[in-house]
Amino acid sequence: MSELGKFEIPHHLSITPGNGGLPKLLIETDWSTAEIYLHGAHVTGFQKKGESPLLFMSSKSEFAHGAPIRGGVPLIFPWFGPLEGFPSHGFARLREWTIHETGLLSDGSVRVSLTLPEAENFEVEFIITIGETLSMELAVKNTGGQECSFADCLHTYFQVGDIHTVSITGLEDTGYTDSLTAKTELETGSSIHIDREVDRIYQDTTATVEIHDPSLARTIRIEKSGSRSTVVWNPWIDKSKRMPDFGDEEYLQMLCVESGNIAKNKVFLAPSASSALKVTISSAAL
Ligand code: BG6
Repeated sequence: MSELGKFEIPHHLSITPGNGGLPKLLIETDWSTAEIYLHGAHVTGFQKKGESPLLFMSSKSEFAHGAPIRGGVPLIFPWFGPLEGFPSHGFARLREWTIHETGLLSDGSVRVSLTLPEAENFEVEFIITIGETLSMELAVKNTGGQECSFADCLHTYFQVGDIHTVSITGLEDTGYTDSLTAKTELETGSSIHIDREVDRIYQDTTATVEIHDPSLARTIRIEKSGSRSTVVWNPWIDKSKRMPDFGDEEYLQMLCVESGNIAKNKVFLAPSASSALKVTISSAAL
């Protein structure tokens, strides 16, 4: 841990052993606090001062080498979902990332840049900026000699007061693949309400999505660029019980709205070309 000390910023960024002894960055700005694990380059917390946490973390999450963290922002790369013989959602969330640089920006935000070691024919950097908002950018460069393709996604778990009263806007008139039926559907309602297991990949959408949460009296806003897919997921009752690293009742206080490029929207990169998936999360009182 001591060799990481050079990345600390007095009063703003410290590095300590977190759960399971895994290195954790603790960040404080005038507006907010945040936590990042090097394991998976995983943002496990972001909280604005005077507000409830914006990100949901499961009380049952593992914190161990080789296991993904349940909650926060799992970083999905270079494939999304199951792949026979390989870990679900890619290897990026299972690796120990390296700190490239940290810094205090002139407006008082803290910027952290992490890189993914041994990323095959990719150069992968994850840049997290913490201030009044949480901004994240996954930058990927093709360092191989041939065109490559991959999926990416910031699999963000949001904390909500009561899933029954939450509504989601921004995905009206958007086509989606229902992962539960494998059918393609069109979102026809003016907002989405969750009252059962929902697992959908909305395609060809660059739209900002908002989560309206009357219980916590706030709206969460998810703005993105370099992303053409949005996933909406809540495991509901039965799947919650099947997941060993997730509490049986925790589906009531969480909702995943994930920004990325999946399936038919996956990214193709020519040799030396780069892509950038950017997501900015903000909140306001209802
Ligand atoms: C979502 C998928 O993105 O991630 C779901 O759409 C999946 O199908 C969920 O269950 C959690 O995946 P994992 O691998 O973290 O358990």
